[in-house]
Amino acid sequence: MIDTANLTKKFGDLTAVDSLMLHVNDGEVFGFLGPNGAGKTTTIRMLCCLISKTSGTAKIGNYEVGNSADQQKIRRMVGLLTENSSNFEGD
Ligand SMILES: Nc1ncnc2c1ncn2[C@@H]1O[C@H](COP(=O)(O)OP(=O)(O)OP(=O)(O)O)[C@@H](O)[C@H]1O
Ligand SMILES: [Mg+2]
Repeated sequence: MIDTANLTKKFGDLTAVDSLMLHVNDGEVFGFLGPNGAGKTTTIRMLCCLISKTSGTAKIGNYEVGNSADQQKIRRMVGLLTENSSNFEGD
């Protein structure tokens, strides 16, 4: 359902997400934990097509993050409830 390979996000010289490999099955409840600054929010922003990825791949179902034709379809599939909405603005 969610598959990433070497998913990476850089903000200038800072690598916020470094070659993430993630596989989450359909129907699976997945806890995505890590220390402050680990890159969790940045990962979710990429997976929701709110910000671009720097490199690597990410698929939600059969749709490809970064493919402009798939972006609307991914956004329609995803529900996002956030603690702080300002973290989830796009770029
Ligand atoms: N828009 C941005 N511009 C520059 N650096 C950023 C930006 N967004 C996040 N970062 C940096 O990227 C790294 C990862 O941040 P991120 O917010 O994804 O971590 P997080 O795991 O969600 O942290 P927290 O547990 O505090 O919410 C941090 O070093 C952060 O300062
Ligand atoms: Mg966060």
